[in-house]
Amino acid sequence: MIPAAGLGTRFLPATKELPKELLPVLDRPVIQWAVEEAVASGADEIVLVLAEGKEALAAHLRPDPALEHLLEERGKTAELEAVRHAGNLSRVTVARQAAPRGLGDAVLCAANAVGDRTFLCMLADDLSLAEPPVLRQLWNAHEELGTSILALMRVPKEQISRYGCAEIAETRGKLHRVSGLVEKPPAAEAKSEFAVMGRYVLTPAIFAALRETQPGALGEIQLTDGIGRMLETEEVWGVEFDGELLDVGTPSGWLATNMRLAREHPEFQSAVAAIDGTGGA
Ligand code: G1P
Repeated sequence: MIPAAGLGTRFLPATKELPKELLPVLDRPVIQWAVEEAVASGADEIVLVLAEGKEALAAHLRPDPALEHLLEERGKTAELEAVRHAGNLSRVTVARQAAPRGLGDAVLCAANAVGDRTFLCMLADDLSLAEPPVLRQLWNAHEELGTSILALMRVPKEQISRYGCAEIAETRGKLHRVSGLVEKPPAAEAKSEFAVMGRYVLTPAIFAALRETQPGALGEIQLTDGIGRMLETEEVWGVEFDGELLDVGTPSGWLATNMRLAREHPEFQSAVAAIDGTGGA
């Protein structure tokens, strides 16, 4: 499940008309990076949660026979392959969020599409730079423990107020049993240095929990609060994943991620090296 119904306020004015998930990172939009990670992690179906005006996201992931035909006629083989790849990554189902009531509400909007299944949930705001991908690492932890799994990252205390924060009751290596969750706590009140990052394995119990969750931080129905409610009935664990998540949801994060990936990419590294050579970096 990829909740992609947000307003993209951190990226205005770029996202006034363009959904933030369609901003390109190197040569492909953010949504494609997310779906590629999901597929590489074993997902066999994508449920996209969209708000009105964001239909282009689903269109990017569908085949485009007219464009393919045109590229074929013109002998644009590489472009044709890239377009076909994007349109055939996965089966995609679209769920709708009627109003911007928060991430928890967006997840709840996909309840019918997901049904009674344990599922992977990912926010497209971060790209996984990890092998295996962060989502796969979470699924591996789920296969070991059988519970919902959160992606945990240690962050400096002064940064914790940007994230959901997990209170930890028990630790087994990189696995931590979660005993409480607070969305965006002030640094002084944070119960740990563990931030919840935008990757989750969730059991279907999350839907009942979210139905009973009242608006919290920012007046929105928070996924963090829904998971907190699940703790009353089942265990939730977190995994400190190997590798990195790279921010593409803010202008500075997006820029740094593009620069970093470009430096390692055979097609783009010479363009970046040219800028670096002029004293840019
Ligand atoms: C969301 C979640 C938060 C999590 C963060 C990770 O917040 O609500 O718990 O820590 O993603 O990026 P947002 O970034 O949408 O404010």
